[in-house]
Amino acid sequence: MTSRETTMTQPTLSTTDLDARARELSWYHSLELAPGVVTPGFFDTRPTVAKVPLPADLTGKRCLDVGTWDGFWAFEMERRGAASVTAIDIEDPTRWDWPPQSTFGPAGQARLGYLREFKSGAASFAFAKETLGSSVKRLDCSVYDLDPAVHGTFDFVFLGSLLLHLRDPVLALDRVRGVCGGEAVFAESIELIPSLTHPRTAVARLEGLDESWWWQPNAAGFRRMVRSAGFEIIDRTGIYFLPLGEAHPKPPLHTAWRSLGSARGRERIVTRVKGIPHTAVRARPLG
Ligand SMILES: C[S@@+](CC[C@H](N)C(=O)[O-])C[C@H]1O[C@@H](n2cnc3c(N)ncnc32)[C@H](O)[C@@H]1O
Repeated sequence: MTSRETTMTQPTLSTTDLDARARELSWYHSLELAPGVVTPGFFDTRPTVAKVPLPADLTGKRCLDVGTWDGFWAFEMERRGAASVTAIDIEDPTRWDWPPQSTFGPAGQARLGYLREFKSGAASFAFAKETLGSSVKRLDCSVYDLDPAVHGTFDFVFLGSLLLHLRDPVLALDRVRGVCGGEAVFAESIELIPSLTHPRTAVARLEGLDESWWWQPNAAGFRRMVRSAGFEIIDRTGIYFLPLGEAHPKPPLHTAWRSLGSARGRERIVTRVKGIPHTAVRARPLG
């Protein structure tokens, strides 16, 4: 028996009760809590595990998951043998770095209220952690506040689907570099059409108004951000898709086809059919 196995506790609830308890909570991730029990997530991250260049073996490593939400990637690192996993997130959506205008007025406030309830003080993470018998340590900490003097350095860092929500993604990557003593994997949302039409030119579209995102880079733009923050890219994926999960609203396709006339509309159809386009890199700090 390995030391990891000694820390695991098996769920004591029956499969039916576990499923029912899980369904009382809101989930961002589709997490397999036990054989046949998968949380009804907003996104189904499971198929992307085979695409992302996460090291197969993290035995003995001190790992960090940035923007963990329900902890999918933190638990995955633990599964791969990490000696310890720290997971950071910001629980209160009013402290997120969203474009100010997206939070203004009754609609913006209602959205923040919905998200606060959705996150409900990390209740789903706590439930998953207990069910999986996990030792992941969660901190309420912004990526911008990562500090080697406070948090130490990590052998491996994962950051996923976060940069688009940040006003200053390069600063965030720079803060990750400050605590990264080994390698990092960044797996991010990118814009599909400019990634296909401009595969070698780094571009990013600034949103920053009513939506919850700021910069929408193409794949080359995302890789340039990583390099600009002082990382060397040692491995990269092509474009892959993060599928919508059971809980994600899915507009009927016959209405979606009406959006074919605009680039945004075409991207919405791709999202509906295949998921959110992503690409990932494995990188190490320069210098
Ligand atoms: C889109 S979710 C991505 C979840 C997960 N990283 C993944 O790849 O599946 C973004 C997460 O980042 C968190 N977040 C937002 N701003 C943050 C910040 N400044 N620092 C750390 N986490 C943040 C959010 O609370 C949310 O849990």
